[in-house]
Amino acid sequence: MIVTTKKLFDLAYGKYAIGAYNINNVEQTMGLFRGCVESEAPFIIQISKGARSYTDKFVLESIIRAADVIFPDAIFAVHLDHGDEQACYDCIESGFYSSVMIDASHETFDENIAITKRVVDAAHAKGVVVESELGQLGGVEEHVAVDEADAKLTDPDQAKEFVERTGVDSLACAIGTSHGAFKFSGTQALRFDVLSEIQKHLPGFPLVMHGSSSVPQEEVERINKAGGKLMGAKGVDDRQFKRAAELGVTKINIDTDGRLVWTRVHREYFLEHPENFDLRPPGKVFMAEYAKFIADKNQKLGSAGQIPEIKKFLK
Ligand code: G3H
Ligand code: 13P
Ligand code: ZN
Repeated sequence: MIVTTKKLFDLAYGKYAIGAYNINNVEQTMGLFRGCVESEAPFIIQISKGARSYTDKFVLESIIRAADVIFPDAIFAVHLDHGDEQACYDCIESGFYSSVMIDASHETFDENIAITKRVVDAAHAKGVVVESELGQLGGVEEHVAVDEADAKLTDPDQAKEFVERTGVDSLACAIGTSHGAFKFSGTQALRFDVLSEIQKHLPGFPLVMHGSSSVPQEEVERINKAGGKLMGAKGVDDRQFKRAAELGVTKINIDTDGRLVWTRVHREYFLEHPENFDLRPPGKVFMAEYAKFIADKNQKLGSAGQIPEIKKFLK
């Protein structure tokens, strides 16, 4: 069942965070739904601009509609990840997305506000909720390239003003994470001090943490052993998710970890079966392994086991 993130955030706030997982194809979708249904967790399925053009946006929408039928117990929101203004309008008009992210974090504060406000007005008129970003993560996104050294953390005073002036429904904050598999050169440092200040300025308001893959070292080692070259890959310690949730983070974005599962499964499979060239055997292993990964991640987020409680409120 597709719901808005607003409903999910109201129920989760301060208690647990909801996993927001990116998808690009049918195997990721099936693994994601299976893992979330098995762990009885609500989730957010996110589609980036790159994912929308990988095959075609209608292909992904059709896959999700099919998964919704195959897994009637799934409760999820469909979200545009890192949209520009045009992509947001396209998703709002489509009637399929329950939530969009406008990412104008690379613009000036006032321009970010102006763009976000236009998207909020268009989205709310159609019952779609909006996430926006303030501050800049390190790493590389589709249309935003930021050197890690120049990454700007979210200013708590600005965060309050931004939310008040835009009417946005949730805010992605930069608190030390970055996208991709190479997040920290030294020890990881999530800035809980900054997060706590933001929460004080915006009590009860849902915050979002991007760049939250944990880049499991066991996964990296297996990939490298099977011919990969991911030297120095490092991620966020997922034992810190629950602390982030207590400080107002209700949505935690995870994409890279899923790509690592895909890479490990396919590298190992073809190393062990050099004579094989069929895509289905490793595809099946991937779907099972991804479901396992998702179920485990939902435990760490605290979202596992929440479906019965959520169902009471959706009636
Ligand atoms: O934050 C970006 C997400 O990981 C999506 O990545 O733009 O390569 O689809 P993508
Ligand atoms: P990761 O690269 O850490 O998985 O972050 C994903 C993300 O923030 C998607 O918006
Ligand atoms: Zn992101």
